[in-house]
Amino acid sequence: MQQAEMTQRENWRSRFGFIMAAAGSAIGLGNIWRFPYLTGEHGGSAFIIIYLLCIVFVGLGIMIGEFAVGRKTSLAAVGAYKTQNRSWTFAGALGVLSGFFIMGFYPVVGGWSLAYMVKSITGLLTVPEAIGDFFGAFVSAPVEPLFWMILYLAINVLIVAKGVAEGIEAAGKVLMPTLFLLLIFIIFRSVSLPGAGSGLSFLFMPDWSKVSGNTLLAALGQAFFSLSLGMGCMITYGSYLSKKENIPQNALTVVTMDTLAALMAAVAIFPALFAFGMEPAQGPGLVFVVVPTIFAQMGALGPLFSVIFFAALTVAALTSSLSLLEVVVAYLIDERKMERKKATYIASTVMAIMCILSSLSMGTLAGVKLFGVGFFDFFDILTDKIFLAIGGMLLAIFVGWFMKKEDLKNELTNDGTISFGLFELWYNLIKYVIPLAIFVVAFMGIAAIEQTSLMLFGIFIILALMVFSKKL
Ligand code: PFF
Repeated sequence: MQQAEMTQRENWRSRFGFIMAAAGSAIGLGNIWRFPYLTGEHGGSAFIIIYLLCIVFVGLGIMIGEFAVGRKTSLAAVGAYKTQNRSWTFAGALGVLSGFFIMGFYPVVGGWSLAYMVKSITGLLTVPEAIGDFFGAFVSAPVEPLFWMILYLAINVLIVAKGVAEGIEAAGKVLMPTLFLLLIFIIFRSVSLPGAGSGLSFLFMPDWSKVSGNTLLAALGQAFFSLSLGMGCMITYGSYLSKKENIPQNALTVVTMDTLAALMAAVAIFPALFAFGMEPAQGPGLVFVVVPTIFAQMGALGPLFSVIFFAALTVAALTSSLSLLEVVVAYLIDERKMERKKATYIASTVMAIMCILSSLSMGTLAGVKLFGVGFFDFFDILTDKIFLAIGGMLLAIFVGWFMKKEDLKNELTNDGTISFGLFELWYNLIKYVIPLAIFVVAFMGIAAIEQTSLMLFGIFIILALMVFSKKL
């Protein structure tokens, strides 16, 4: 008998709740913190166009695949692969590991955001010229960022320990619509500033000279990171999805909302940035340095806008990290037969330890290097540049070559009761085009990347998982 039949599995209470939770997972720091700075570094709209191609031709197909695998098996990442084909357990294990590692730095940035929300009213904006130094001093301090990170992580634990419906679903339903309203509010303010037009043309007139192999990997990695793909998160969320739901349609809604949020974040930031004559290629400090500076120059309303912005960022981050924690928790519940609360506490304690190392690597532990990078970059680069893309490629190969076409068709058309006219196109994409495209882009990008030893280490981990994961 299948595991799923033995216990009553939790389910999303409503379609709206599922969409909000899945979109909440997708929309996060990736959209508001990372997408704008990658766009700034990689030449504006040229990067956006490549990113959109990755979303349409790779991301959407993989999301449909992940939902299908999750719902068909009613199991989270590891179990889903394992029940279909035992030698694929490693692909699920890689996903759980990716979730763990992303949670080794994500709550650190979530904590910064929480701190900035509060600091916006308590003096952050009083001296605009000092905001850059303030950021540097804040993130490298030994104790204060740890406090905010722990607070941020504690909110995650409280919600995930409550379970899927009451915790994650309820939080997403309130928090995600709030985020969209907040972004619209900031966009109006930003595009109405004098000089905002050059920001818009930066966003919509491509500069192809900045595009390289590294840009392609950055865009592909960003597509996976932003859509929460390549690590079994959407498999897990799909496993709680009712058999009546239309998977392709739900996937399209989530992808559209995620893309909209990223574009909205860029339209909120760049016009104001150009209006104030600032540099677009600011790197990861973009949000935390430039945005408060912009708000500080807005006069009396500045602090209010700043609070709203960082509240939105915190909300977005929260609904994503909930899903990351859930991937690990669901593994412990499904495969290790652990009780939900216990699983949540154990997983989050390990994550807190990794986050402490990541946060300290900004200052106190700056000299400690793993494979040539600090702890923060170690967790970030390993997941974003290696694990997620390879995880996505494995999912595509698994779906295309190891699952029955008939079964997939049944899953995606709810046993023929609804139509999915693009099934053949989707099937050919996931079977041939997507694995090949990811392989080529990953190969070109990995070859262009500086941290060779870290890349080799990542590949070594994947190989080790292939050998040892049969026991999981
Ligand atoms: N999609 C999230 C973001 O854009 O911030 C990050 C993320 C969440 C990645 C969940 C992967 C994941 F499984």
